[in-house]
Amino acid sequence: MRTVPLHGEFAVRVEDIDLSGPLDEVTVTELRDIWMRHRVAVFPGQDLDDEALASFAERLGPLFVHVQKQLLRPKGRKEIMELSNLPGAHAPVTSELDWHTDQSYTPKPVFGTILHGLMVTEQGGETAFADLAGAWASMPDDLRARVDGVTAVYAAEGPRVRPRIVLTDEQRKEIPPVPHPLIRTHPYLDRKSLYLSPMHIRTIDGMSEEDTATLMAELIAHATQPAHVYTHKWTVGDVVMWDNTSVMHRRLPFPPDQKRYLIRAGFHLPEDRAVPY
Ligand SMILES: [Fe+2]
Repeated sequence: MRTVPLHGEFAVRVEDIDLSGPLDEVTVTELRDIWMRHRVAVFPGQDLDDEALASFAERLGPLFVHVQKQLLRPKGRKEIMELSNLPGAHAPVTSELDWHTDQSYTPKPVFGTILHGLMVTEQGGETAFADLAGAWASMPDDLRARVDGVTAVYAAEGPRVRPRIVLTDEQRKEIPPVPHPLIRTHPYLDRKSLYLSPMHIRTIDGMSEEDTATLMAELIAHATQPAHVYTHKWTVGDVVMWDNTSVMHRRLPFPPDQKRYLIRAGFHLPEDRAVPY
């Protein structure tokens, strides 16, 4: 295993490892430590089918199944999702997606998300990552004072959401808005992060919608400065894995005539660390 930094200490490329192969416990632990330290890990040149991707994800934690069931494929294992614009795709992904952290609107959000690029766009379609641990570490004192110890309310249908699917009334009841600390502590590391999910945060600690919007704009501007952002341009075979406790991400637009097909898996934290704190 060889590591190459991608954006200073944020994001790392990991080479000379085959994620489809049998991985011993020492290797998995080493890989997990590298990933957590750098928040985003890119493994180029992989070739994983659904089973292999699920097997790899399962080594890192209990497998994630998306709460919005309409996004799941009618066939195949439910832990693997498709992000596809191919003809006949189920819940096709055809445009950009705003900054968010995955499932921040649930009580126990997914820990790691893994994407594997099988068909990628020549232009556009990049996945951009903002380093929220770095954003907290570099945050000016006056802004820190306004967010430290503060709770925000996260919802599946936030003010900036353009959903791939519309929630049913039943789902609205199943996934009601949930409070989380706006500054969260990493479950394994001595590290804090801004838990920023612009698509999902509805209100901040009892603030009005207007004040929430003002503070959100400041936080987004701070967190998305070039110093904190790594933008991943996809190559076929890439596996990209990120830590939702410490980064937010977005998908950049791409021309509709370009084919894009990725598979996705995710894994949870153990129960005793699953709720953000
Ligand atoms: Fe996402």
